[in-house]
Amino acid sequence: MFRNQIMCGESQHLLSALPENSVDLVVTDPPYLISYKDSFGRKVRNDDNPDGVLPVFNEIARVLKPESYCISFYGWSAIAQFVNCWQEAGLRIVGHLVWPKGYARRAGHVRFAHEAAYVLAKGYPDFPEKPLNDVQRWIYSGNASHPTQKAVQVIKPLIQAFSRPGDLVLDPFSGSGTTAIAAALSGRDYLGIELEPGYCTLARNRLASVHLPKAV
Ligand SMILES: C[S@@+](CC[C@H](N)C(=O)[O-])C[C@H]1O[C@@H](n2cnc3c(N)ncnc32)[C@H](O)[C@@H]1O
Repeated sequence: MFRNQIMCGESQHLLSALPENSVDLVVTDPPYLISYKDSFGRKVRNDDNPDGVLPVFNEIARVLKPESYCISFYGWSAIAQFVNCWQEAGLRIVGHLVWPKGYARRAGHVRFAHEAAYVLAKGYPDFPEKPLNDVQRWIYSGNASHPTQKAVQVIKPLIQAFSRPGDLVLDPFSGSGTTAIAAALSGRDYLGIELEPGYCTLARNRLASVHLPKAV
């Protein structure tokens, strides 16, 4: 019932309808809590509102199956808030992934030239059969459809390492639907949830134009 669709609405609310222990893997890219605005003036909903982002992790922890993973990108400047909420939700930090970018969009005390994500565990999952290097190759998406769009090629290795064919992969901050596309291309089921109706439509259109591998 909750498989292979993009649901439009607020994640904490919509996830409350999902049964507990029903999702195999979460791969998500939440608002970084940095009041982001790109060079075209595009913003990300709730990027200035921790209360619209952090409580979603309680629902993530509830719907994840026991002994499973959640991969979450994050913004370094809000790391204390993210770590605190993950710990309160019962998600343990078991790994950290870094993507050196080779370019910097912004600079402050340092030039900001990498992306990062934490590998979080619910319970004590088995190690992946083929563990990923924790330094990964970055591919720039071009951000054509969404101001913080990730490339499908960046997300696919995460899904393939931390789940199995046929598993259900959830992204409760779905944006343009990148995680859902990467999951579908990897032979996994997906559930994307997104607040902005325009991005829901975009994600559904992107998914409709994806050429999926033939089932064997
Ligand atoms: C950083 S973006 C994700 C971009 C995505 N990785 C992509 O490749 O397009 C985060 C998304 O979460 C959405 N969002 C923010 N708060 C939300 C909430 N409480 N429930 C559902 N979606 C939310 C925003 O509208 C935004 O599109």
